[in-house]
Amino acid sequence: MYSFRALAVIAFSLTASFANAQAPDVVEQSTGFNSSFALSTSQIEAASLSPETANRVNTVINFDRSQLANGGPAEDSFYQLPPLNDTTTALKPGILLKVQDFTNTTSFVTPPNTALSRILYTTTNFNGTVIPASAFILWPFSPKPFKQTPTGPARNENSTVKAPAILWTHGTSGFFASHAPSSHRALWYADAAPFALALAGYAVVGPDYAGLGISKSWDGADIPHQYLLSSASAHDALYAMEASLAAFPDRLDARFVTMGHSQGGGVAWGVAEVLAAKGDGEFKTLAEGYLGAIAGSPTTSVFSGLPGFILPWVGMMLRGIFPDFELSQWLTPLGIARTQLLKEVEGGIGVGTQLYLQAGEDVVRADYDETSWHAGAYARLANAGGRPFRGPLLVVQGTRDLYIPYDVTTATVRGTCDANPAGDLEYLVVNGTGHVPTLDATRPIWLQWIEDRFEGRALEKSGCARTDLASFLPLDRYQSVGNSFPQFAGLPEFSYQVPLGP
Ligand SMILES: *[C@@H]1O[C@H](CO)[C@@H](O)[C@H](O)[C@H]1NC(C)=O
Ligand SMILES: *[C@@H]1O[C@H](CO)[C@@H](O)[C@H](O)[C@H]1NC(C)=O
Ligand SMILES: *[C@@H]1O[C@H](CO)[C@@H](O)[C@H](O)[C@H]1NC(C)=O
Ligand SMILES: *[C@@H]1O[C@H](CO)[C@@H](O)[C@H](O)[C@H]1NC(C)=O
Ligand SMILES: *[C@@H]1O[C@H](CO)[C@@H](O)[C@H](O)[C@H]1NC(C)=O
Ligand SMILES: *[C@@H]1O[C@H](CO)[C@@H](O)[C@H](O)[C@H]1NC(C)=O
Repeated sequence: MYSFRALAVIAFSLTASFANAQAPDVVEQSTGFNSSFALSTSQIEAASLSPETANRVNTVINFDRSQLANGGPAEDSFYQLPPLNDTTTALKPGILLKVQDFTNTTSFVTPPNTALSRILYTTTNFNGTVIPASAFILWPFSPKPFKQTPTGPARNENSTVKAPAILWTHGTSGFFASHAPSSHRALWYADAAPFALALAGYAVVGPDYAGLGISKSWDGADIPHQYLLSSASAHDALYAMEASLAAFPDRLDARFVTMGHSQGGGVAWGVAEVLAAKGDGEFKTLAEGYLGAIAGSPTTSVFSGLPGFILPWVGMMLRGIFPDFELSQWLTPLGIARTQLLKEVEGGIGVGTQLYLQAGEDVVRADYDETSWHAGAYARLANAGGRPFRGPLLVVQGTRDLYIPYDVTTATVRGTCDANPAGDLEYLVVNGTGHVPTLDATRPIWLQWIEDRFEGRALEKSGCARTDLASFLPLDRYQSVGNSFPQFAGLPEFSYQVPLGP
């Protein structure tokens, strides 16, 4: 479906003499890996892995690495930082560093008739240090036309309509450079949001979040991904939007809706909070184009998830925020050894699952919350919710979400509404849907919500309001979990796998 070379063969066969048409080679392989990684004996010993776990980790790493377009940030020259012009003046956030206007999508699995650009730009970490980061922009074939807009469609100097923008904040992809959605063949969230949005006519601006994509600053300092710190990633998102507008002033509409899911649901909510705090100051110009935010299944309570999942991931970077923190305050020696391995292999969520969630192995100290104050303090810094926000905000939550409990989101919504009785927050509860599948179940609703914002319509429900959504057919008839992924078939010998391609 996505093979340029297969496409060329077929285009050739239609335009030139059929006698010259040549069938491509066919190779038996549908999910083969483009990676042959294996843990070393010393890595297996140091992390106390059983042979079975070591094998599983190898398999997951080979799968993850096979999803990297162009070999990922380690190999793709796009991610190399350009030198600084002038090291005597202080670097500002929101500055464009590099534009890849045309990103060749041959090794991505983006839908036909979408186009990709990528940028490098500056953002800040939690303590205000300016650091580089990366982002993608997925372009529609044709910008979505609106029936009405308050000021008419945005046009450039040649009267060409600009593409309405969605600032898309992704859910957890990992913690290291190679987990940048901009280097993932499917931009990480694929059909669940970015593809759906681009196919609906929006330009999708997708920040990777600092630390994903680029892991070292100009001075060689590490850029740890400040995991689940909603305000830090919200700054990454807002600066990505500023830099994208600077990169594509004639193509990108300054009006935008922010939309995110899971970790990125917390970030989208964080964008609404940062704009409430700084929308008349630092982000004044950007805020003029802001139309609202959608927070899907948002992270609003860092430690409400499984400790074996969250504590090692947050703990890896916590010293950058609390310099006196020691990983040994949260993790057992086994947990520390596994975390060391996770860093060495740049493991993602799938590797983390294998390293931290083995039955009978304790990686987290049972007393982590008693012996150290850091968890409570981090939650207060990191969590979205309960603060002033710039509305309107649509919060979408399924009742059968295993990762973000419905009760947690409901409590955050209640607390936020109590603190902001005049705020426009609609809480859409979907009865019976799980974490990412809630996005699929509600696609027509959020697409309509976005359209209404661009068309300047009044909210259907103002103030704090709840909407309940139930399935059309009995719930047990629906496919409830995601069980497929977009598989790269972009080499000629696999073109038989994508008969719908050309
Ligand atoms: C396969 O992986 C290699 C090494 O990472 C990379 O350079 C290459 O681009 C990948 N091939 C495809 C088709 O993605
Ligand atoms: C470097 O200089 C160019 C040309 O003056 C400018 O457009 C760009 O913004 C500068 N980059 C940074 C990071 O300051
Ligand atoms: C994209 O990359 C492929 C593979 O390297 C190449 O064959 C093709 O010509 C490139 N497309 C464009 C438009 O540059
Ligand atoms: C407008 O059209 C002119 C002439 O075709 C072209 O040179 C210019 O780049 C266009 N500007 C934009 C913003 O597309
Ligand atoms: C900010 O954090 C970095 C590490 O991420 C640290 O090196 C630096 O000293 C911190 N700056 C301040 C002002 O806390
Ligand atoms: C979901 O639907 C079931 C069956 O109709 C009902 O019992 C339950 O209360 C609903 N849950 C919520 C949170 O509305």
